Amino acid sequence: MEIHQVGIIGCGQMGSGIAQVVAFHGYQAIVIEATEDLCQRGIRGIHQRLDKLEQKGSISGDQNAAIKNRLRASTDLSQLSACDLVIDAIIENREAKLHLWKSLDPILKRDAILASNTSSLSITEMMMATSRPARFLGLHFFNPVPVMTLVEIVRTIATSPEVIQTAADFVGRLGKTPVFTSDRAGFIVNRILIPYLLDSIRILENGTGTISDIDRAMKLGCSHPMGPFALADFIGLDTTAAIAEILFEEFREPRFAPPGLLKRLVTAGRLGRKSGKGFYDYSDPASPKPMDESGRI
Ligand code: CAA
Repeated sequence: MEIHQVGIIGCGQMGSGIAQVVAFHGYQAIVIEATEDLCQRGIRGIHQRLDKLEQKGSISGDQNAAIKNRLRASTDLSQLSACDLVIDAIIENREAKLHLWKSLDPILKRDAILASNTSSLSITEMMMATSRPARFLGLHFFNPVPVMTLVEIVRTIATSPEVIQTAADFVGRLGKTPVFTSDRAGFIVNRILIPYLLDSIRILENGTGTISDIDRAMKLGCSHPMGPFALADFIGLDTTAAIAEILFEEFREPRFAPPGLLKRLVTAGRLGRKSGKGFYDYSDPASPKPMDESGRI
């Protein structure tokens, strides 16, 4: 099966990154957002990133214009009726996703491939909200999407081999590398990454190291591009806590339980970079200050 037109629902951090990469690699991309304002904001963000690529000389002016031409936004789900592949990148909320897939089922063409970019919710449960389980799978991109080269391809008990192969070819055409995983909470990356982030918070709480030292240790000691606290702030502390809860619910192992400090930060609205404060204070984005410098954790 050939993919020409791709629908992306949600034009936030992940959805806009996916739309950018999809259009960049020659596909027609339609993004769906809840309001006209959100459509415009999403498209504006993508245009700004494309303009930066042009300024850096990574793409020509003509390429920039052609990519922009392949991108459009709408608030109307019925605009997805001709899409060959539809990717959900809406909020990580089980009810919202199940409702979305129920609404999409009568709209999408019968041989479309249906994919969710969820980081931890059950693909099997979403597929059961549609009438075509064999055509449903997970396509999990990583943030920032234009930079990160991995996509997890999540198969269920029902996903057809042809759908998995078409998805893998598509991922390859986006210049990314697929890995294949079964539908278990967290798939491969978050099953390993989230307990690592939670352990970092636990050793901070028990006084083993400061935020700066733990981050420095993992950057210099393991060549990670970011330490665990900078990374948790980057992912979003609400997202990190929500994924931890889902892992804990599935596996019932204490290592997946979100630590008290993480829950308190989320309750206090300190969600990481996106809210300006998390484990670091981003008032001066060029030089974020760790919260334990104040002595109050
Ligand atoms: N969108 C597009 N491009 C971006 C970007 C963004 N949001 N942020 C950075 N970039 C690009 C920059 O333009 C730059 O490109 P060039 O090399 O062509 O100039 C390049 O990335 C490097 O950026 P910077 O020099 O500004 O900064 P950096 O070297 O510190 O890299 C980083 C920034 C790429 C984010 C790097 O720190 C990194 O790789 N961090 C780890 C990210 C990570 O682990 N992501 C996975 C999170 S887990 C997840 O997503 C799964 C989940 O379900 C929770």
